Amino acid sequence: MNAGPEMVLATMEETDLDEVLKIEQASFTEPWSRKMFVGELRGNAFSTNLIARAQCGHFVPEGTLLGYVIFWVVFDELHVMNLAVRSDLRRRGIAGDLVREALERGASRGVRTALLEVRASNSAALALYAGFGFQRRGIRRGYYDHPREDAVIMVLEKGGHTMLSEDPAILDQVRRESSEFKKMEETHRHLEDQLAQLSKLHILTPEEEIRKKQMQFDKLAAKDKMAEIVRQYKQHRTISA
Ligand SMILES: CC(C)(COP(=O)(O)OP(=O)(O)OC[C@H]1O[C@@H](n2cnc3c(N)ncnc32)[C@H](O)[C@@H]1OP(=O)(O)O)[C@@H](O)C(=O)NCCC(=O)NCCS
Repeated sequence: MNAGPEMVLATMEETDLDEVLKIEQASFTEPWSRKMFVGELRGNAFSTNLIARAQCGHFVPEGTLLGYVIFWVVFDELHVMNLAVRSDLRRRGIAGDLVREALERGASRGVRTALLEVRASNSAALALYAGFGFQRRGIRRGYYDHPREDAVIMVLEKGGHTMLSEDPAILDQVRRESSEFKKMEETHRHLEDQLAQLSKLHILTPEEEIRKKQMQFDKLAAKDKMAEIVRQYKQHRTISA
C-alpha cells in the first residue's frame, strides 16, 4: 500500500539536476555525474527521465524532489538505467510508483522485455524488482566498483517469446539461412565482449562512459534486429536474406 506522500511525476529537466545529484550522490558509491544526466536529457532519444515531486506536504514540503527513474526503450526492450529515492523517504512506495510508471509507459510502446543490472548486495532493489515479477537471469562478475561486486541481471518478460527464450532449433535454422542474422549475432557477441572488458576497468573516464552507453544501445539494436528476423522466419518459415 502506498503510505507515502502524494506525488506528481514529471519529465526531468536540467533545472532539476542540482536536487537529483544530491539524491544520486547520497544513494550510490559510484554516482552518475552531471554530464551523464545531461547526456540522457539532451543526447539520447531513447531515454525517458522522470522525477517524482511531493504534491502535498504531510511528510515534506510540497515540491520536494522525492526520487527519479531513468529508462531506455529500444524497440521492444526496456532497460532501467537509474533509480533512486531520497534516503529519508524510502519504504513509502515511491520507487514502486516510479517503476510501475516506467513499465506502463514501456508496455504502451510495445515493450515485451524489461531488464536491469543491480548490485548483488542491494537487497532493497532486488526485493523491489522481484515484487514486479523480475527474475534473476544471470550474473556479471565484478561489474561494479567501490566496492568491487557482481551485478545481478534481472529480466521481466511480458508475453511472447524474446531472444532469451527462443527455441534453439529455430535459432539454428535461422543461423543457417540468414547471413544477416549471423552478422547481427557476431556484432552482438563482439559488443558483449567489449562491454565486459570495459566493466573490468576500475574507473571509467566520461568518454568511456559515453562509449559504454553507445555499445549498450548498439547491442540492444542488434538483438532487436535478430528478434525481427526470427519473427519473420516463424511467420513464413523462410528467409529472404
Ligand atoms: C531501491 C530503492 C530505489 C527503493 O525505493 P523505495 O521508495 O524505498 O521503495 P518502495 O517503498 O517503493 O518499496 C517497494 C517494495 O520494495 C521492497 N523493498 C524496498 N526497500 C526495501 C528494503 N530496504 N528491504 C527490503 N525490501 C525492500 C519491498 O518489497 C517494498 O514493499 P513494502 O515496503 O511494501 O515491503 C531505494 O532503496 C534507493 O533509492 N536505494 C539506493 C539507490 C538504488 O539502490 N537504486 C536501485 C538501483 S538498481
